[in-house]
Amino acid sequence: MDADDQARAAWEAAYGAAPQRDVPFSTMSGVDLPPLHGDGPYPGQFPYTRGIHASMYRSRLWTMRMFAGFGTAADTNARFRELLRSGGTGLSTAFDMPTLMGRDSDSPWALGEVGRAGVAVDTLADVEDLFAGIDLGAVSTSMTINGPAAVVMAMFVAAAEAAGVERARLSGTIQNDILKEYQAQKEYIFPPRPSVRLVSDLVAFTAAEMPRWHPVSVSGYHIREAGSTAVQELAFTLANGFAYVEAAVAAGLAVDDFAPRLSFFFNAHSDLFEEVGKFRAARRIWARWMRDRYGATDPRSHMLRMHAQTAGVSLTAQQPRNNIARVSLQALSAVLGGVQSLHTDAYDEALALPTEAAARIALRTQQIIAHETGVANVVDPLGGAPFVEWMTDEVERRAEEIFDHIDEAGAGSMLEGVYAGIEDGWFVGEIAEASYRFQREVDAGERIIVGVNAFREGNEEGEAEILRIDPRVEEEQLARLAAVKQERDDAVVAAALGRVRADAADPSTNLLPALIDAVRTYATLEEVVDALASVFGRYEESAVA
Ligand code: 3HC
Repeated sequence: MDADDQARAAWEAAYGAAPQRDVPFSTMSGVDLPPLHGDGPYPGQFPYTRGIHASMYRSRLWTMRMFAGFGTAADTNARFRELLRSGGTGLSTAFDMPTLMGRDSDSPWALGEVGRAGVAVDTLADVEDLFAGIDLGAVSTSMTINGPAAVVMAMFVAAAEAAGVERARLSGTIQNDILKEYQAQKEYIFPPRPSVRLVSDLVAFTAAEMPRWHPVSVSGYHIREAGSTAVQELAFTLANGFAYVEAAVAAGLAVDDFAPRLSFFFNAHSDLFEEVGKFRAARRIWARWMRDRYGATDPRSHMLRMHAQTAGVSLTAQQPRNNIARVSLQALSAVLGGVQSLHTDAYDEALALPTEAAARIALRTQQIIAHETGVANVVDPLGGAPFVEWMTDEVERRAEEIFDHIDEAGAGSMLEGVYAGIEDGWFVGEIAEASYRFQREVDAGERIIVGVNAFREGNEEGEAEILRIDPRVEEEQLARLAAVKQERDDAVVAAALGRVRADAADPSTNLLPALIDAVRTYATLEEVVDALASVFGRYEESAVA
């Protein structure tokens, strides 16, 4: 048997051994194996171009993980329950701007923003309310937070344990990807190097105590939303992933002790074949770099697991219901690209946070793709198509050129190369240039955006009904925070914050234990962040010409 026959036999064995969802391929075919183009490597085989599992969605559909959060913790808890009732299969938490920036709801910085762009979290009490009645041992939970991620992670662990769920049972993901904040989203607090220390501390803590947890979701989503090209999104994101690997190894971890739980998050944008090529190339690049550059030997370290979200930046305020079509096709690109978890944007999100009805349509879009189109029943259905294979190769080739630039800037260290590109503004400049080119094409009519620069009939129709955040939210949250502060023991809080400062000053100490103890005293998010900032400082970005 030659190598290709052996590869196919190994794939058939893995495919056959995997539990199968009882679904037909289609009304036409009775085959018991999906048709596969070309020779190996097959799905579930290194370098995983065709998918990280031999059977992919035939064994388990992707997680339908709808991003949700607004108002108070009780408001968002109700939305979480509704999404789970409607068939969502994972939770994904959106925090409000004050929380994302490490500010309390009673901070002057927070005025008018409390509960608006996400859920307001000030203390452990809010996290307890956020997940009240939800079995955190049974459903995987994602939390989108970066600057203060370690503090919110501490609150999540403390809340789960108070609810009787021990750390080892908790499954989920915290975004905790600070590098893309300097490059694109700008929701940073501390300077890059102490921030990366916090990321590494969380990686080490979960590697030791939370084996089902993904401590970092290395994100390209926001890089793309800031205007990058697909290749830049992929290359900058994977470079950040390599940087975190180097930081964790430098902190003393063995690569196979943490790499299996690294996770990624990409944009699912409008150019379908480019997106499918991007997802396939991502898996192949990561697998090869992890094996060949970083010496990972555990196959799970080679498998790139990813979440995708359809492109918020592509949604139009004009004729907003057209966005249902856009999101459907973008979601299809993610499924054809083999992602593990997916959020679909609601059609009204160019105007406001989604209404419950619009969020449900977005979830139903995933369910229609999963259960009515047949695409989930065949592994890597576009694999082998000449254009898709060319696109996969071309995206990989162009990404490797970007890696060469970053590696050179870091004198052989991707971590130092990423730091250099942040400090000299290279990432910001590259994204700004790409964004400018895109907008110039739209303004020149070279790139059609339906309803925006063409096909504008219907734009005059009334706005969709949109979600309005009740001003009572801010009052309610402030009252809640005041009550928590009133009830706690301030001396105990002060002592715990003192320990946070002391441990922050010692780079060899993992900060998570002190952070968990501090949040248990109901120290507020901002109090803990201020304690960290007293040691780390706060980052001031220099403008890029
Ligand atoms: N065969 C065998 N096993 C399979 C399988 C198959 N076909 N399919 C799945 N499985 C297994 C997996 O291996 C896994 O088992 P393990 O945990 O023991 O390894 C289990 O089934 C669950 O599958 P996944 O891990 O693939 O699915 P999850 O949904 O649990 O995890 C993830 C997906 C990408 C790894 C995870 O990191 C995740 O959920 N990420 C989501 C992050 C997120 O929601 N981000 C939102 C950000 S919003 C934002 O930032 C934008 C805003 O700012 C605007």
